[in-house]
This record gives sequence, C-alpha cells and structure tokens, in this order.
Amino acid sequence: MMWKERYRVGVDLIDEQHMELFKRLSNFIQIVQNDIPWEKKMGEVQETLDFMADYVVYHFDDEEKLQAEINYPDIEIHKEAHRVFKEGINDYVKIFEQGEFTEEKIKEFSAKLMAWLIMHVGKMDQKIGQYVREKGGQA
Ligand SMILES: [Fe+2]
Repeated sequence: MMWKERYRVGVDLIDEQHMELFKRLSNFIQIVQNDIPWEKKMGEVQETLDFMADYVVYHFDDEEKLQAEINYPDIEIHKEAHRVFKEGINDYVKIFEQGEFTEEKIKEFSAKLMAWLIMHVGKMDQKIGQYVREKGGQA
C-alpha cells in the first residue's frame, strides 16, 4: 500500500477515495512488476485503465463539489490540474484502444500514475485540508 497518513486531507469522503486510488495503483504496479508474460497482463491493464478513467472522474467531481461548497479560493487552478490529469489518462486509453500498448507503455503509464497521485494528493490536495482546518478554526 502506497498510502501514507500524511496524505490525509481530513475530509473522510475524499480520504477514502484517495485510499482506493492508491490501493488500485499499488495492485497494478505489483502486477506490472510480476514475472509473468506481458500478454497476460493486458487484461489487468485494461481493467486498471477502465477503473482509472471512471473512478478518477467520479472522485474529481466529488472533490470539486466539496471545493465549491467550502468556497475554496483555488478551485479553478485545482480544476485545471484535474482536467490535465483526465486528459493524460484518456491519452493512454486511446493508445490501448489502438492496440499500441507495449511493455514500455505499461511501465510508463504506471510510473506516471504513481508520480501524479503522489504529487497531487501529497501536495495540491493537502491545501484543501489546510483550508478546511483554518476555516474550521475561525468558526
Ligand atoms: Fe484534487
């Protein structure tokens, strides 16, 4: 599990969704690193791509809803980061659909997902938590 306590935002719904994303990603990375033929990993790749494409949209929508509810000042910057990531996933979905998914592409995809999740959840989403805590403190 790649989840760390310091990734916690302090909003249960968001934290649970983040944990689910990390859980899926660590499973995926384990499979990518497993010593089984690449052709046999394609089903898992397809599944992970489908999951990420659906769940990430669902999670981002919830996160953006939360930001709107609490009048989070950086909501537009945050939405833009989400948009770029969704586009990134869709690029891989397209590559997969075109049958151009190679071992190299799978490794690249898992590494990008990991880097992005750690960066985004570990940094950008933390600011939401900080804002919630500060606002809570003022009330
Ligand atoms: Fe986010």
